[in-house]
Amino acid sequence: MLYPKITKTAKALPKKNVTNKELEIFLDTSDEWIEQRTGIKERRIAVEETTTSLSIEVAKQLVKDIDANSIDLIIVATMSADMSTPSVACLVQESIGAYQALCFDINAACSGFIYALSVANNYLSGERIQRALVIGTDVMSRLVDWSDRQTAILFGDGSGGVLIEKISDTPSFIGELIQSDGSRSSALYGHSNIRQNRFSDVTGQLYLTMNGKQIFDFALRDVSKNMVQILETNNTTSDEIDFVLAHQANYRILLALSKKTRIKKEKFLTNVAQFGNTSAASIPILLDDVVNKKIVTLSGNSLCLLTGYGAGLTWGSLLIKL
Ligand code: ACO
Repeated sequence: MLYPKITKTAKALPKKNVTNKELEIFLDTSDEWIEQRTGIKERRIAVEETTTSLSIEVAKQLVKDIDANSIDLIIVATMSADMSTPSVACLVQESIGAYQALCFDINAACSGFIYALSVANNYLSGERIQRALVIGTDVMSRLVDWSDRQTAILFGDGSGGVLIEKISDTPSFIGELIQSDGSRSSALYGHSNIRQNRFSDVTGQLYLTMNGKQIFDFALRDVSKNMVQILETNNTTSDEIDFVLAHQANYRILLALSKKTRIKKEKFLTNVAQFGNTSAASIPILLDDVVNKKIVTLSGNSLCLLTGYGAGLTWGSLLIKL
């Protein structure tokens, strides 16, 4: 029996880099405040790039050395699709010529990549799907209100993804714990597609609206509990974890999660300083970064905890040997 395994990673980032100092020009904020409260120094912002173009760039890297027709499944996690339909995944399929693939998008906000990875892993445990592309992409700069200093400073744009193949003799996906709580949806929400029709006059908040404290508390309570629970369920101690690849929302949240879960802070990999919060893209961008730096080798030697959390509320963890 063969098990699914992540065999390749890729990322794509917009060319334009925007530093905290550049935000000072039009927002009542400072480089010092942003860095102290969030750990973020700079982020990439899409000018020419789109959610579709970034996803396609990642997919092209992932299928570079293989026949695109051998891809059976493409999932794109995003909350900033360029069109309401077709899905970004279908546009990726067309662009790389993966005509045998089953394609769809998932919207679980900043948890999207974790949700998509879980869905792909479940598909791969059946017979039909042997190879899958799982991509997380968000162009958050088109969802935020650039006059709202509370949210505009946090986000960046980008895409990351993985190729998963059913080639491993031993299980690589060890466990998962995925959760949602729609009753707390008001902590973070946004309308991207408000339209009026002949019979109704729909108005509302156009941009992303966030209660920062509620999100911070959610991460500290529910997300840390989820991380502890997945370790307990899989008889794993915090010392046995080699690396944590958590959603890169804020460096202070990573430190707090380390304290709560008793997983040493050195094990929490991070690139939030460089890219900010790229929502569904943050974990796969980080994964590609650490694979390129040979911190994680994809040879199955590192026990990693991948944890996402975001609007919905949605959150979840996967325990994976990478
Ligand atoms: N620049 C300067 N001052 C600011 C800014 C800013 N960008 N934003 C807020 N302030 C001010 C506030 O107005 C407030 O001023 P006051 O004391 O005069 O009233 C002061 O700074 C402190 O504000 P707080 O909101 O208490 O600051 P806090 O330390 O809580 O940090 C933050 C705010 C960074 C948003 C924090 O709540 C947080 O990290 N929350 C998590 C949110 C998050 O990461 N969201 C990501 C999206 S969701 C996701 O990815 C899951």
